[in-house]
Amino acid sequence: MTQTIATARACSNIAFIKYWGNRNSALRLPANGSISMNLDGLETVTTVRFDPALPADRLILDGKEQGGEVLERVSRHLDHLRTLAGIQTRALVISRNNFPTGAGIASSASAFSALTVAACAALGLRLSERQLSALARLGSGSACRSVPGGFVEWYAGRDHDSSHAQSIAPPEHWALVDLVAIVSSAHKAVGSTGGHALAPTSPLQAARVADAPRRLNICREAIYKRDFEALADVIEQDALMMHAVMMTSSPPLIYWLPTTLHIMQAVQQWRQAGLPVAFTIDAGPNVHVITTAEFRAQLSQRLAQIAGVDRVLEAGPGGPTRLLDEHLSAD
Ligand code: PMV
Repeated sequence: MTQTIATARACSNIAFIKYWGNRNSALRLPANGSISMNLDGLETVTTVRFDPALPADRLILDGKEQGGEVLERVSRHLDHLRTLAGIQTRALVISRNNFPTGAGIASSASAFSALTVAACAALGLRLSERQLSALARLGSGSACRSVPGGFVEWYAGRDHDSSHAQSIAPPEHWALVDLVAIVSSAHKAVGSTGGHALAPTSPLQAARVADAPRRLNICREAIYKRDFEALADVIEQDALMMHAVMMTSSPPLIYWLPTTLHIMQAVQQWRQAGLPVAFTIDAGPNVHVITTAEFRAQLSQRLAQIAGVDRVLEAGPGGPTRLLDEHLSAD
């Protein structure tokens, strides 16, 4: 094989109905389906170059050469794709995030989506969006939702091929905004891979999973009808159910900080006062405050004024992962 290169850009995504816990952790087959919105402008760009001269895979992330567990995870993911292509050539992976890593926005979602799409193109694999989504899932579950565009549903599925994500509405369907209130940029003690493994230790997980089809239906309908009130109630309930599972796992995972709770209470008060606003929280202390484009500036300002909020990132609905013509260079 001669050198081959490709570059892809992927958005991060925020789950409205959360993925937490696996039915099969090797394949990252989730315990329940999930629904998310891609986050426009919160992106990863990744160039993958397969090079027969390389003795081992290399990863340069935001300008820094990576080793250890971070490189191994990328290398393991490339192994799946190399097996599909029937080659063993090692790769140089150069990746850049335009948002702070570990800021509580899922960098693994955009990272593994961009990596999968770029690597498959560089390998000359001709795959459908559905196949690319299922492959991205092997790197990080939520990454399968960053492959298609706009509002996306990940069907839990029964096996590798059926566990994939698909767009349920394009980005322009609904001008929602995610205001990410950054409370702490510190790296979390227990990341999502470790967290998924703990989910079954909570006696609440079975109830959360059993009720998931109901929440998925309400969320999907709310998106179709652009019904903010219905969306607000279901996403807050879903996030609280996931955090109830986290908090009751053995050992317990408590991701919230005092400021997290202040923001949650402020959001509920603002909604009672008539504003279209709701919160959701991933595996970290930062709060994703969902509103409509009309209220973006007003709510962003209000959030920035809450003591303990470092900064507010803003994103509307984003498109699918796309190949780019220009490649990143190592320096
Ligand atoms: O894809 P992972 O393993 O990073 O898990 C994501 C888990 C949550 O962000 C908490 C929920 C979700 O559905 O994105």
